Amino acid sequence: MCATEQNTTGQTARKKRIFSGIQPTGVFTLGNYLGAVKNWVAMQEEYDCAYSIVNMHAITVRQDPAKLKKQTLDSYALMLACGVDPQKSIAFIQSHVRTHAELAWVLDCYTQFGELSRMTQFKDKSAKNADNINAGLFTYPSLMAADILLYQADLVPIGEYQKQHLELTRDIANRFNGLYGNVFTIPDPLIPKAAARVKSLQDPAKKMSKSDENPNAYISILDEPGSIIKKCKRAVTDSDTVVCYAEGKDGVNNLITIYAAVTGKSFEEVAREFDGKGYGVFKQAVGEAVAEHLRPIREEYARLSADPAYLETCYTEGARRALSISNRTLEKVYKKVGFVKPCL
Ligand code: TYM
Repeated sequence: MCATEQNTTGQTARKKRIFSGIQPTGVFTLGNYLGAVKNWVAMQEEYDCAYSIVNMHAITVRQDPAKLKKQTLDSYALMLACGVDPQKSIAFIQSHVRTHAELAWVLDCYTQFGELSRMTQFKDKSAKNADNINAGLFTYPSLMAADILLYQADLVPIGEYQKQHLELTRDIANRFNGLYGNVFTIPDPLIPKAAARVKSLQDPAKKMSKSDENPNAYISILDEPGSIIKKCKRAVTDSDTVVCYAEGKDGVNNLITIYAAVTGKSFEEVAREFDGKGYGVFKQAVGEAVAEHLRPIREEYARLSADPAYLETCYTEGARRALSISNRTLEKVYKKVGFVKPCL
C-alpha cells in the first residue's frame, strides 16, 4: 500500500490508491463479478489496492450468525479465487479492523439526516425490511465513507448502483476538509464502461441481485456450467429475433453486455457474429461463454476452500496491514476533532 514508482522526471510518485468492498450476503453474482471484482483484479498491477469483505455492512439486515460467518469466509476465498492476490493487495475482512467502526461514528456526526434519507438503497432496503428499519441501515453510507476515506483512496471501483453512496462519501469528505483542512483524499468512482449494470435474467428492468427470490434471475459465479447455460436459455428477451443492442430490447441488451464482457468482443462484433442466427443460438453461446469464463474461478475456489489455514494467514495479514494504514488516518481525524490522545 505504500509502494512508490518512478515518474518520468525520476522522482518517486505515490501510486494511486484503490479501495473497494463487497458484502458477504451470498455467493457473488455475475453482476458483482463483471461490475466490480473483475476490475479489482485488473487494477492490482497499476495501483495500491485494498479490498474488503464488508461483513459489518451485512448486519444492517438480519442475518443468521452461523450463515454469516460461513459466507464471510467463503466470500474471502471467492475474492482470492477471482484473482485478488493477497501479496499484491490488502485483502481483509472489515470487522477485523476496528478503525472502520470508529471513523464511521465520527462521520455520522458530519452526515445530515436529509442526505441519508435520500439514499435509494436505504429506501429500497427499508421497503423490503419494513419490520427492521434499524439505525445501521440508515447510516450505512457513513460506514461506507469511512471504509474508503480511511485508506485515502483516490479511486473506488464500483458498479453503477453504488454511485450515489460514493457521491455522498465525497460530500462528507469535502465537508470535513472544509472544516479542518486537507484530512481526506477526495475519491473518484471508477465505473466500468461495460457491465456496470448487469440486469436480472428474468426481469431486465431490475438489477441482477443475489437476494432475488427467483434463482433463475441471477448467475452465481460458482454455478455449474449446466445450470448457467439453462439460466441463459431461459432468460427473458422479446418477440423480435435480431441480436443487436437497441432501445427497448433490455433482455437482449443485457445478454450482449454479458457476452461482450466475458469474451472481450464489442457490441458490433457480437451483432455480426449472430447475424441471422436467432435468439436460441445466441443464448446458448452466452451460457457457454460465461460457464467457460468462470471455470478457472470455480476450480481455484475449490482448491482454496480446502485450505482454511492458508486463508486464515491471508486475512490475518490483510487485517494487520489494513489497521496500520487506516489508523494513521483515524489518529489524524481524532486530533482534528479535539479528542485527547492517551498514553497507552
Ligand atoms: P454489494 O455487495 O452490493 O456489491 C459489490 C459490488 O458489486 C457491484 N454490483 C453490480 N455491478 C453491476 N451489476 C450488478 N447487477 C451488480 N450488483 C452489484 C456493486 O455496485 C458493488 O460495486 N455498499 C457496497 C459495499 C461496500 C463498498 C464499500 C463498496 C461497502 N463499503 C466501499 C465500495 C467501497 C455494496 O453493498 O456492494
